[in-house]
Amino acid sequence: MNVSSIRFCLILLLAVCAGEFKLRCAGAEEPVAGDPDIGYRLLTEKAYLPPYFDQETFDYVWRVWPKELRAEAEAATAEQRRQMAFSRYGLTVRPNDPEKRPLQYVVDGRGQWTLNCFACHGGQVEGRVIPGLPNSRYAMATFTDDIRKAKVKLGKPLVSTDYSSLVIPLGTSNGTTNAVAFGVALMAQRDADLNLNKQITFPKMIHHDMDAPPWWHFKSKDYLYLDGFAPKGTRGLMQFMLVPKNGPNKFRQWESDFQHIYAYLESLEPPKYEGSINDKLAARGKLAFENHCASCHGSYGETPDYPEETIPIEEIGTDRARHDALTAVHHKHYGESWFNYYSRDKQTRNGPGGYVAPPLDGVWASAPYLHNGSVPTLWHMLYPDQRPRIWQRSETGYDHTKMGLEIESFKQLPAEARRFSEKRTFFDTTQFGKSATGHNYPDKLTEAEKQAVLEYLKTL
Ligand code: HEC
Ligand code: HEC
Repeated sequence: MNVSSIRFCLILLLAVCAGEFKLRCAGAEEPVAGDPDIGYRLLTEKAYLPPYFDQETFDYVWRVWPKELRAEAEAATAEQRRQMAFSRYGLTVRPNDPEKRPLQYVVDGRGQWTLNCFACHGGQVEGRVIPGLPNSRYAMATFTDDIRKAKVKLGKPLVSTDYSSLVIPLGTSNGTTNAVAFGVALMAQRDADLNLNKQITFPKMIHHDMDAPPWWHFKSKDYLYLDGFAPKGTRGLMQFMLVPKNGPNKFRQWESDFQHIYAYLESLEPPKYEGSINDKLAARGKLAFENHCASCHGSYGETPDYPEETIPIEEIGTDRARHDALTAVHHKHYGESWFNYYSRDKQTRNGPGGYVAPPLDGVWASAPYLHNGSVPTLWHMLYPDQRPRIWQRSETGYDHTKMGLEIESFKQLPAEARRFSEKRTFFDTTQFGKSATGHNYPDKLTEAEKQAVLEYLKTL
């Protein structure tokens, strides 16, 4: 190589570097337009947490099931057994996936399984799998208990997730999780730049289970979460990866991935109800809805409008554990951190004092209702004094009359429900954080208006 070609190469190299530099600068200033398809692929195929268990453990897990179920699994084929495991833990196959991989876990080429966002945010209604629909069947605690037992029997090493369920309750009814407390615990030990500081002791924790909200509401909101404390932004979506193994640099590296994930969330549309709708009745329901519900829940149709109203906790009267669990101290700590761009653009709303009325599009699909998942159908939302005290859903049944989960209700927890794995198939509204009280607004409707509003809700 002669001097002039070396010079040429150097100039070329400089030009490429400058180009790259310009791109990076542009990226830092204006948000890069994310691609929803890439977002979905990242969510289902890239592991952001340490792997949790392997295929061998999953294939073995039926051996730790209760006796009767184990006997049934023993007599079944491997494929049937896999279906039984999916059903026990609330897993579904990804839509249009010839390999039939689970939506809720990333499974890599070496057969390592890693939890992803769809564990809580991807479910099914009447057997139709909908990414972004809350997973009302996810049995996080039972799955974790079973996997731990299977690993012990197989002599496999335990990882931190295996212990987490011994330290912090994961969820006491299937379909709901103690997700907010996970966030509080994990965030408490990080400084504003997300460096881990294990010296800090955990704050006082109020454990309570929540039903995840549908992701198709994301695009209508400016602030996220039930109390609307967090300004919407790319970085805020990354909180869920706050396990001790993920250091501050990982979050910075992954920020561009989450621009695609953000775009994916923005792209989601509510699923349409495919059952029959009485149009005349629904039109009457629309009028009643506009008079009694729209001021909080917004209007739908040609010119949609969503007010994003926060209703004081004393007024709404639904379960207050969530309100008490996330304090102004947490809001502020989060607000001043990297997740909220150090409050550069928008402050968090510290101690907002209530719950935000959610949009109701696609509401037919997202049973059970209220933030803690305590109300099984829309009909029970409209008849507050008829809400069941203890209920158990059928596996995938949908009640097209009451609009929501097909359930059986109980006065007391049946004596047979002795094991935790069985207890978690019931929803017991007498337990802490699980009350189905409040939101009595429908009491203002006449009987005929209630029927009409129920019909109207099918159209949203
Ligand atoms: C263990 C269950 C669980 C997992 C896993 C999970 N979430 Fe959530 N998510 C929840 C719950 C519960 C809420 C409601 C919290 C609240 O409002 O206080 C929520 C709320 C949200 C919201 C706010 C929605 C709204 O309308 O206000 C977004 C956005 C979100 N999650 C995104 C994600 C992303 C992205 C991931 C993966 C990186 C993820 N979640 C993983 C349970 C989970
Ligand atoms: C004053 C404000 C307000 C009014 C009026 C109001 N709601 Fe609500 N609604 C809320 C709030 C806040 C929540 C969330 C409560 C919670 O999850 O604890 C909610 C929750 C709901 C939910 C459950 C949504 C879900 O996904 O869990 C439904 C359904 C609902 N409302 C229907 C109605 C109907 C129908 C009316 C009119 C008869 C109405 N609401 C009137 C504030 C209101």
